[in-house]
Amino acid sequence: MRLPQADGVANGPFAMLWGVLISFFASIATRSVVKGGSPTGLAPKAFLNLPLGTVKPAGWLHDQLVVQTNGLAGHEHDFYDYVSDSDWIGGTSYYSYLEEAGSYWFNGMVPNGVLLNDSTIQSQVQQFLDYVLDHQDSTGWLGPEVNTTKPRYLWGRYPFFFGAIQMVEANPALTDRVVSALHKFVSLANTMLHNGEGLEDWARTRWEDFVMTLQWLYDFHPEGKEDLLIDTMKQLKYTGDPWEDVFKEEYFPKIAVENLTNPFPELTWHGVNMAEGLKALPSTYRFTHNQSDLDVASKGWDLLFQYHGRPSGIYAADEYLAGLEAVRGTELCLVVETMFSGSYLYQVIGDPKFADRVERITYNALPAELTGDMWSRQYLQQQNQIAAKNMTPNPFPEDGPYSNVFGLEPNYPCCTVNHPQGWPKFISNAFVATPDQTSLVHVYLGPYSVNTTLANGNNVAVSVDTLYPFSDSLTTTITAAKAFTYYVRIPSWVSQGTISVNGGAARPVSPSNGLHAVSVNAGTTKFTLDLPSDITIEERPHGSVAVHRGPLHYAFDISRSQKVLAQNAQQPLAVDLEFDTTETWQYAIDPSTLVFHGSTPSGGKLPSPVFDSGLPPFTITATACPIDWEVAGDTFAAAPPTNPTCTGAVKNITLWPFGSTKLRISEFPTFKAN
Ligand SMILES: *[C@@H]1O[C@H](CO)[C@@H](O)[C@H](O)[C@H]1NC(C)=O
Ligand SMILES: *[C@@H]1O[C@H](CO)[C@@H](O)[C@H](O)[C@H]1NC(C)=O
Ligand SMILES: *[C@@H]1O[C@H](CO)[C@@H](O)[C@H](O)[C@H]1NC(C)=O
Ligand SMILES: *[C@@H]1O[C@H](CO)[C@@H](O)[C@H](O)[C@H]1NC(C)=O
Ligand SMILES: *[C@@H]1O[C@H](CO)[C@@H](O)[C@H](O)[C@H]1NC(C)=O
Ligand SMILES: *[C@@H]1O[C@H](CO)[C@@H](O)[C@H](O)[C@H]1NC(C)=O
Repeated sequence: MRLPQADGVANGPFAMLWGVLISFFASIATRSVVKGGSPTGLAPKAFLNLPLGTVKPAGWLHDQLVVQTNGLAGHEHDFYDYVSDSDWIGGTSYYSYLEEAGSYWFNGMVPNGVLLNDSTIQSQVQQFLDYVLDHQDSTGWLGPEVNTTKPRYLWGRYPFFFGAIQMVEANPALTDRVVSALHKFVSLANTMLHNGEGLEDWARTRWEDFVMTLQWLYDFHPEGKEDLLIDTMKQLKYTGDPWEDVFKEEYFPKIAVENLTNPFPELTWHGVNMAEGLKALPSTYRFTHNQSDLDVASKGWDLLFQYHGRPSGIYAADEYLAGLEAVRGTELCLVVETMFSGSYLYQVIGDPKFADRVERITYNALPAELTGDMWSRQYLQQQNQIAAKNMTPNPFPEDGPYSNVFGLEPNYPCCTVNHPQGWPKFISNAFVATPDQTSLVHVYLGPYSVNTTLANGNNVAVSVDTLYPFSDSLTTTITAAKAFTYYVRIPSWVSQGTISVNGGAARPVSPSNGLHAVSVNAGTTKFTLDLPSDITIEERPHGSVAVHRGPLHYAFDISRSQKVLAQNAQQPLAVDLEFDTTETWQYAIDPSTLVFHGSTPSGGKLPSPVFDSGLPPFTITATACPIDWEVAGDTFAAAPPTNPTCTGAVKNITLWPFGSTKLRISEFPTFKAN
């Protein structure tokens, strides 16, 4: 992992020696200032994550979190059975694995509450934390099985652990209570694992989430238990599914898996398990120090998107990996889990490809899978989606016909409680620190404010003002006690990007490993980035194409009618919605005619919410012609016809950012207009 040099910073052996000396003293002086470091034992990460609350959303991203809080996520505790039951949930659930429901909700709402400083949510999660910790039993067990005869499986606790760690980051006064409860639990879990207890098929696939919790204890609060922690990590890995083989090219499934035989346990090809399993090899690497773990993690990521990837940035898995066809589904849970895993992969490995993709998933696949007001969510999202309704016939081999309805809990309740982690964790991972803690790195582009103390007591405040991804321009203002090097990611799709520092002339950006270095002096530094990109065409199956510009993917937004299918008795805003098309959607486009149209919204502000029809300020127009394109069954588009004939007059159609479309075509047949 090599970082680029800032303009005007000396290079060469002397500078390197000086750098080593500075970071040596810095590490002594400020070891506990920015968390995430790894002084001994475990292999270091390429970058350190910052404690929850260090990075705050600003501008439209702040508004997006307000929309989420005013929507389903922010109200679940008031009315949704799985969460409103103070007894950690699960006690009353009909799917036993949903003992994770409260745990999932907690994991997402802890950062949501902190990032908005929302006192209602913060008191709900505090109550949840208190309840769980207060009911830890004498064996060390945590969770709804306490004082029952229910079997004790480890997995349901893992999202709770992530939430508890985030609470400690935001409020260090909780450290002793959480850390001592975790150590008690670890000692029990270690014994259980040695006895072959606590494991079922889901725990066997999702072991990495516990490994990451153990690594947090090891990095910050080992309390002399390093050997036990490492032994527990190894037990989890060696009793768990072999991700180092699942992600190898020779075993990796290259088509939708329903007719294939998995040489490993079946659940490893399950979409959400795979999204979580993306963290298995980077977390393993930290205790094996085996480069092969990182190489397979990186290659596995590429294979997943090569064979199952979608133009929205995510991959298809309608329960199990589903290949490239535009009619297949992507589960909302795997969208948010892949975002979180991609952030972790970037922090461990430092390859900017992870950050580029997380940004695309966040700005396209995630908002498309919820209504604009975030009160209704899908279970499965289709890349070409001409209806959201009870499907006949059902195009999903393993999921129900109701899976693409926008509602409270279509198909399964899991994504209702799991989706809230998406936006808040994207925000808290939007900046990282270098391992020597002398530099800040802006990873995910968007509007934020950051306030932190770097090495040598360097107090730094950053504010990023932008409408990105609905603008190419970002203005960053940094106030620093001491000079340092600041890094900003330049996405791979940027073409002819420029930077202007302190009002100087615009100069080309010069990223290395995806990062452009800016030397910041003590006092205030202000710079403006202009990051334009070209329209690009992605080839898809059946000779079809998908359209991109920068982080955004563009789709034909089919106008829709809406029917309320169900309404929750306690919360009338929690509705299940059917959408049907009200216009022709059967078009071929001529890719040579695409024109980008960007405008600045009035008052310089985006509408709230922004992710719904007609709202974003960016569009692309395309010359199109009507064609014959079959409907399969009565509710979904057949595969795009290859080389179709125009059946009517050529016209221009408008393509909109994918995240704002709820019914859409985004893999188009092509024709030549002239
Ligand atoms: C958070 O809100 C509380 C009131 O609920 C207020 O006292 C506190 O100053 C706020 N903190 C920040 C960082 O804005
Ligand atoms: C288990 O139940 C008993 C009887 O209700 C109660 O006294 C005890 O505190 C409970 N233990 C825990 C750990 O919740
Ligand atoms: C799986 O097999 C069925 C029945 O032969 C077939 O219709 C379907 O296309 C196959 N699916 C894939 C992804 O090969
Ligand atoms: C590193 O991992 C690979 C793949 O799992 C394995 O074949 C190799 O033996 C490991 N190397 C060491 C030193 O453990
Ligand atoms: C950053 O935080 C410190 C301590 O919490 C505070 O004193 C300072 O005013 C903050 N700086 C900015 C620019 O918000
Ligand atoms: C489509 O748009 C292009 C450029 O934006 C324009 O030149 C052309 O006349 C339009 N075609 C139709 C059929 O409106």
